[in-house]
Amino acid sequence: MAEFLGGWRRTMRCAEVTEQDLGRELTLMGWVQRARDMGGIVFVWLRDRSGIIQVVFDANKLDQETYHLGEVLRGEYVLAVRGELAPRSPEAVNENLYTGRWELMVKEAKILNRAQTPPIYIEDGKNENEAVRLKYRYLDLRRPSMQQMLQLRSRTVDTIRRHMASEGFIEVETPILTKSTPEGARDFLVPSRLHPGDFYALPQSPQIYKQLLMVGGVDRYFQIARCFRDEDSRADRQPEFSQLDLEMSFVEPGDVQHVVEGAFADVFQGIKGIDIPLPLKRMTWHDALETYGSDKPDTRFGLEIKTVTGWAEGCGFSVFESAAREGHIVCGLTATGGARFSRKEMDTLAEFAKGYHVKGLAWMVRQEDGSLRSSFAKFLSEEKLAELEELMLIKPGDAAFFIADSRLTALTALGQLRNRLGEQLGLIDHNRFDLLWITEFPLLEWKEEEGRYTAAHHPFTMPMEEDYQWLETDPGRVRAKAYDLVLNGIEMGSGSIRIHARDLQEKMFSLLGFTQEEARERFGFLLDAFEFGTPPHGGFAFGIDRLIMKLMDAESLRDVLAFPKAQNASCLMMETPAPVSDDQLKMLHIAVDTGERL
Ligand code: AMO
Ligand code: AMP
Repeated sequence: MAEFLGGWRRTMRCAEVTEQDLGRELTLMGWVQRARDMGGIVFVWLRDRSGIIQVVFDANKLDQETYHLGEVLRGEYVLAVRGELAPRSPEAVNENLYTGRWELMVKEAKILNRAQTPPIYIEDGKNENEAVRLKYRYLDLRRPSMQQMLQLRSRTVDTIRRHMASEGFIEVETPILTKSTPEGARDFLVPSRLHPGDFYALPQSPQIYKQLLMVGGVDRYFQIARCFRDEDSRADRQPEFSQLDLEMSFVEPGDVQHVVEGAFADVFQGIKGIDIPLPLKRMTWHDALETYGSDKPDTRFGLEIKTVTGWAEGCGFSVFESAAREGHIVCGLTATGGARFSRKEMDTLAEFAKGYHVKGLAWMVRQEDGSLRSSFAKFLSEEKLAELEELMLIKPGDAAFFIADSRLTALTALGQLRNRLGEQLGLIDHNRFDLLWITEFPLLEWKEEEGRYTAAHHPFTMPMEEDYQWLETDPGRVRAKAYDLVLNGIEMGSGSIRIHARDLQEKMFSLLGFTQEEARERFGFLLDAFEFGTPPHGGFAFGIDRLIMKLMDAESLRDVLAFPKAQNASCLMMETPAPVSDDQLKMLHIAVDTGERL
């Protein structure tokens, strides 16, 4: 039978012992990582969240009076041991173990609980099936890397909280049962028992509440906020996740950015020992797109994009010529060392680019011996070819890639190719952390399918004053006081200065295609608040999970959450979502049409 503690108290965690404890009598508790019976002596690795220590059961030294185990210790048994910490003999020292110079010579022991053979190895680097890991997450969490993750996460959040407090922020909790917040994803809905047919929405972010806190005079608010978005899961997206959410009154973008980058610098210093030079680099959305083909550029490597539309006019290659004629662009990039790509690899890269809605990828290679390989150079005159090589700085051993299409499509596809080439040519320094701000995003995005504009960030974002003139005549041209923080090609967070005047907010809603009634129905409370002295304000939110993922160099958000959802938004451990009883449904005034279920 499993024993209770019986008055025993733990002296410390397993890997918290130090040189000073040699010769002391210690009580340790933990899980059996492994037990090796060497005939008369059993060596056990005892593990807890701090690490592993070797404990030794020597039949001759066990205190037979008080306790004799009398049974084989199996993996994951929960054990309490009492004994003296002794140095290992020099030949027995294990350099791979933090505690490898010592071992605990057991005098007494208790089996606090037994365990079946676990369905996964509780050890790092075993490459276990992820579905099994998620089903038995409580076992998976015992692995050292998972424990490190949880500790790192906790320390990160602690660092952020301290930073925010030092900057004069107040932590305020906002409701989880709320109304739809427009962040661009679908809402999770909660049916109301007391109001038949009505629903709460779980917040996609605390956006509106934090703006109302500014109306409420809070001045500087922050929250480690849980957000819910019913969107398809990806490696960097979970249906529920945490943001550091903040909002400030009487500020311009630079003030918000100062606070956020300070928090990042503290985290990188405290967690990684890396000094991030501040202020961070800023790049406009326009420049990011032109140079890197992305609004979240990975700036750890070059491969910069050049637009050569001017050159393309009358170049002889009809695809490029007609692009230039039709107001499209021709853009390209030069990959140093790309001459090593075979014809087959070029075709693979072209297929990859076509996945981003472009018709083709034109390429050329200047071999080390000076000869040329190309999918399109045969159409060019000697001079045009020489001009292009000069423009693109192509040297022997290099390859260059070109795309002709509408501006955004061509640049975006080339940006994706750039990322792939960066990886393929080994240009990315994986120990580097490149943080930068992308600023001056467009206010609106034209949605072809819907035949209307949508908010590029969200509908509360302030246009840049110098672009007000185009709000009516050319809304697509208006830039916003919006900014994203990008780390190694991943969007860490975004924010903006908000509209704080009712007339501008109403104009924004109408640009987005809301009738006045719709705007009133959805956001009336916000419009009303604007009538009562709303201060100028702005803020930001970044994904804590995404930051931890980068700090840990993890592949997926699933690796940095204690209890993540699987790809299909289900929890394999609790088996959620799950059906509920008919009584519950009735109480919520809900009839389920199971025929409609996919
Ligand atoms: P936004 O929608 O850009 O802005 O979200 C901010 C940051 O939250 C993280 N994030 C996610 N992390 C994990 N899983 C998801 N599904 C997910 N969705 C978003 C990202 C993202 O950059 N209210 C605004 C902020 C503001 O304007 O102040 C907002 O939520 O890291
Ligand atoms: P073709 O004349 O059709 O054989 O095309 C010559 C090369 O141009 C091929 O490598 C095509 O992939 C490439 N190509 C076709 N359309 C485009 C485009 N829009 N942008 C860049 N390259 C293209």
